[in-house]
Amino acid sequence: MAPTSDLKKQSQLKEVAGIPLQSTTVDNWSQIQNFEAKPDDLLICTYPKAGTTWIQEIVDMIEQDADVEKCQRAIIQHRHPFIEWARPPQPSDGIELANAMPAPRILRTHLPTQLLPPSFWENNCKFLYVARNAKDCMVSYYHFQRMNQVLPDPGTWEEYFETFIDGKVGWGSWFDHVKGWWQKKDRHQVLFLFYEDIKKDPKHEIQKVAQFMGKNLDETVLDKIVQETSFEKMKENPMTNRSTVPKSILDQSISPFMRKGTVGDWKNHFTLAQNEKFDEIYREKMKGVTINFCMEL
Ligand code: A3P
Repeated sequence: MAPTSDLKKQSQLKEVAGIPLQSTTVDNWSQIQNFEAKPDDLLICTYPKAGTTWIQEIVDMIEQDADVEKCQRAIIQHRHPFIEWARPPQPSDGIELANAMPAPRILRTHLPTQLLPPSFWENNCKFLYVARNAKDCMVSYYHFQRMNQVLPDPGTWEEYFETFIDGKVGWGSWFDHVKGWWQKKDRHQVLFLFYEDIKKDPKHEIQKVAQFMGKNLDETVLDKIVQETSFEKMKENPMTNRSTVPKSILDQSISPFMRKGTVGDWKNHFTLAQNEKFDEIYREKMKGVTINFCMEL
C-alpha cells in the first residue's frame, strides 16, 4: 500500500465538545486552551477553505507596506502561527511559534467561538473573520480532503455532501461556525468579511482591513496589494501555493491547493436535487440569522 494511504488511515478526527478536530490537536488540547493571548494580538479566523491563505497574504502585505520581498521571508503557514496546529514531533507547533513571536502578533485559527482559548476574549483582542458561502466552501473542502493526506478521505461527492451538512468534518459545522462568529461581532472587535466581497472589490475590502489594523495606505500601495494578492499571482507564488509541502502530505497532482479561486464553482458540483435539499437545510439552520451570502458574481 502506498505510504499516503497509511497517513490517511491515521488521519481520523477526534472530538472536543462534539467538534471534530485533528487528533494531534485534541491530544494537546489543554495546552491550546491555556494559550495566553495578548491585548494587541490580531487573530485571523476562518472556517476551513474560506480563503484563509488569501486573507493572510493580504494582512501580511498590509503589515509590510506592500514590500513583496519581506512577504517572501517565510511560507505563509509560518508567518501567522496556527494556534491549534499540533503535529509530531512538535507537541504544539502553533503555540510554540506564537509564544516565540514578538508583539504585536498576528495569529490564525479555524476554531469555532466556543472552543477559542478564553484569553482571547479576556484580552479583548481584534478578530478578523472571513466567511465564504457554504456551497463553495463544501466544494473546496471536498477537493482539499481528496489531496490532503492527513485529513480523512472524503469518499464520493454524494457521501461528502451529507458529511459536510452533518458537520462531521474537521472544525465542525459550517453553519454553527459562521453563526457563532456572526453573533460575536456585536460584542467584540470583529471585522467580518466575505470572500465574495473581496473577490468583487478587493481594493475596497483591503482598505477596510488596513483601517481595522490601524494602517493608512496610500493609493499606490493599495493597488500593489490588490495586484500581488490576486489568485493568479498567489497560485504562482511558492510562499503561498503550498508547493513546498511534500507530496506525501499535500498531493497537488490530485487537486492543486490554489484550485480555482472563484465564486459559484458549486454549480459544477451540486445536482438539482442536492441544491434543493441544501437550500432547505440552510433555511432551517440559519433561521433568524441576518447574514446574506452572495452565491455567484
Ligand atoms: P478553491 O478550492 O475554491 O479554489 P484556505 O486558504 O482557507 O484553505 O482556502 C482555500 C481556498 O481559497 C481555495 O478555494 C483557493 O483557491 C482560494 N484562494 C486562495 N487564494 C486566493 C486568491 N488570491 N483569490 C481567490 N481565491 C483564493
